[in-house]
Amino acid sequence: MFPENFVWGVASSAYQIEGTDAEDARGENVWDAFVREGRIYGGHNADTACDHMHRYKEDFALMQELGITSYRFSLSWSRILPDGVGAVNGKAVAMYRDMILEMKKRGITPYVTLFHWEFPLKLYEKGGWLNEESVEWFGNYARVIAENFSDIAEYFITLNEPQCFIGLGHLSGGHAPGVKLEPAKVFQITHNVLKAHGRAVQMLRQYAKQPIKIGYAPTCGVAYPYTERPEDIEAARSVYFACDRQPIENWTWNVAWFSDPVFLGRYPEEGLKLFAPYLPEITKEDMELIHQPLDFMGQNIYNGYWIRQGADGKPEYVDRPADFPMTACGWPITPECLYWGVRFLYERYHLPIYITENGISCADTVAQDGAVHDPGRIEFLDKYLSCLQRAVEEGVEVAGYFLWTFLDNFEWEKGYKERFGLVYVDYPTQKRIPKDSAYWYREVCRTNGGNLTYRKDFPKR
Ligand code: NOJ
Repeated sequence: MFPENFVWGVASSAYQIEGTDAEDARGENVWDAFVREGRIYGGHNADTACDHMHRYKEDFALMQELGITSYRFSLSWSRILPDGVGAVNGKAVAMYRDMILEMKKRGITPYVTLFHWEFPLKLYEKGGWLNEESVEWFGNYARVIAENFSDIAEYFITLNEPQCFIGLGHLSGGHAPGVKLEPAKVFQITHNVLKAHGRAVQMLRQYAKQPIKIGYAPTCGVAYPYTERPEDIEAARSVYFACDRQPIENWTWNVAWFSDPVFLGRYPEEGLKLFAPYLPEITKEDMELIHQPLDFMGQNIYNGYWIRQGADGKPEYVDRPADFPMTACGWPITPECLYWGVRFLYERYHLPIYITENGISCADTVAQDGAVHDPGRIEFLDKYLSCLQRAVEEGVEVAGYFLWTFLDNFEWEKGYKERFGLVYVDYPTQKRIPKDSAYWYREVCRTNGGNLTYRKDFPKR
């Protein structure tokens, strides 16, 4: 059983849904430049996306109709501060305030993410996250957020998936800004980003107009045990928090490096040794700044990989069979990661956890009857949520779950190719069609998980 006050919600991000208009006075961000460079599947762009900036009233009405009572969304830094610092765009503040008031009117609690990957282009031209001033730039932005929105919103999340915007954006280059920097620079960026998180927490608390709750939303695939033998569990736990499992050109897929400093106030010892040749100067003051008290931990979890103890006593990967289930975008379907992920994180960091994102992309189409039948999404969610429920029943403090996502939207470099939504968007007409899963999820929210079917007999090995 989920606790009575369990938070059921959906998640989104600004760039993926909002769209733009000629009058919005927003500044550009690194994704605008990346789109211009033609680096998105099919030459797609986010100029209109779901046109949410003009349709949010209808979208929140639909959300209410679908029984959703919490919404995690993000604010666009360069929409609010067109140059990243300096003058505030009053139109953006007015729009976001209206959005928040509108959702609250519909009984929907806002969870506000400050940064979901859209770094202001003007500041990128000044060195971006590599410039140590980015700590103060982000702190200043957080202050503007606190001053303008903390009277009407209570929950804030600093950063979304630093592993992705740092690693994909600056190491492998598949996401904006799309550069491939040497590892030392990427460690410097990471250190600046973590400090920026800390500075933002300080500013939010200092300028908040009421007591607020703050969290952080990193990500990572979950190492989970192949069987539930204690030695496999231990092997999986050690791999989940290890620093030596990825080659250096992929090092940002790391849980401990991004979460230990934030929640424990130190980088993992193993990483400090292993990454020593690449590390910037790290001071005691830096670590204090990064380690600000937080109210909750957010974690985005989509999938995991099997680990067991090998014959030599060391952890080893276990290959998946050729017919292993996959999502439309080729991600493995591994419901157990939701159980093991939150369990391992809670054991290490001891904070209440929100799943800030989880969901599936499916090859959804509109059927002859005008509906969108997506049994694969329902089955996926049923299994994943059943596993989450197991963690809750075993005492892990899981505070809530935000399904990614409400509307089909602009899936970054994949454009509109992937559909993660509970609601189908017909982009040419902007018509919204709730999929079967939206009605199913409404029952999940209404019955507090009472309609989940796998929880009793989910296979344990
Ligand atoms: C992670 C990101 O936070 C979100 O923006 C993205 O659309 C989903 N996962 C799905 O890939």
